[in-house]
Amino acid sequence: MKFLITAGPTREPIDPVRFLSNRSSGRMGYALAGAAAEEGHRVHLISGPVSLATPEGVDREDVTTAADMYEATAGAALRADVIIMTAAVADYRPVTAPTEKIKKSSATMTLELERTRDILGSLRDPIGFTGFLVGFAAETQNVEVYAREKLQRKGCDLLVANDVSQPGIGFDSTENEVCLYFKSGPDQPLPRGPKTDLARRIIHTIDDRLTNHS
Ligand code: CTP
Repeated sequence: MKFLITAGPTREPIDPVRFLSNRSSGRMGYALAGAAAEEGHRVHLISGPVSLATPEGVDREDVTTAADMYEATAGAALRADVIIMTAAVADYRPVTAPTEKIKKSSATMTLELERTRDILGSLRDPIGFTGFLVGFAAETQNVEVYAREKLQRKGCDLLVANDVSQPGIGFDSTENEVCLYFKSGPDQPLPRGPKTDLARRIIHTIDDRLTNHS
């Protein structure tokens, strides 16, 4: 099967030398890309700026901004059987980004931000992806309620949720603890462990679902 996986943060320019970003390391997405390739799938990885080596057998495309990631993902989506959106896409970007460096002047400064497009939320409509769609969610409270709502709102078949309020897991760490919420079927909590182990289990679960339900 053909997998399209997004990973890492995006960077939204403030001026030529500054940007808004987040602490995503890209590890979960890279681990999923590596695990899918290990299983013999063709993997196209669309990556924000990270310092990770490309997993063996994976075709990687680098992007910087949320708008770049939208274009790359929309352009490749209809060739994929499975799309996994692990990227921590910026929800907002500066309305303007001057081409010259902003010089400091007053004691305070205000940045005006505007919403970026929701890539995951656009994959069904208007992009028209009909394959197996996997979203990720990082929550700090009411994980199940928010995860189920996000699963439905974004048209996912599976939503992988983690509680980022717990120390030592999630953003920027090598371990994670997630729960899988399916459109159909019971929730499946996965025990805490290295992201590489969790990635293999998630890929096996997707493989099982697609083999047994198609
Ligand atoms: N995502 C996306 N495009 C965006 C923002 C998020 O594709 N501009 C994807 C992420 O890759 C991830 C999922 O949406 O798979 C997580 O979204 P999140 O930002 O948690 O969802 P929101 O609906 O924005 O949730 P919140 O209400 O927590 O802001």
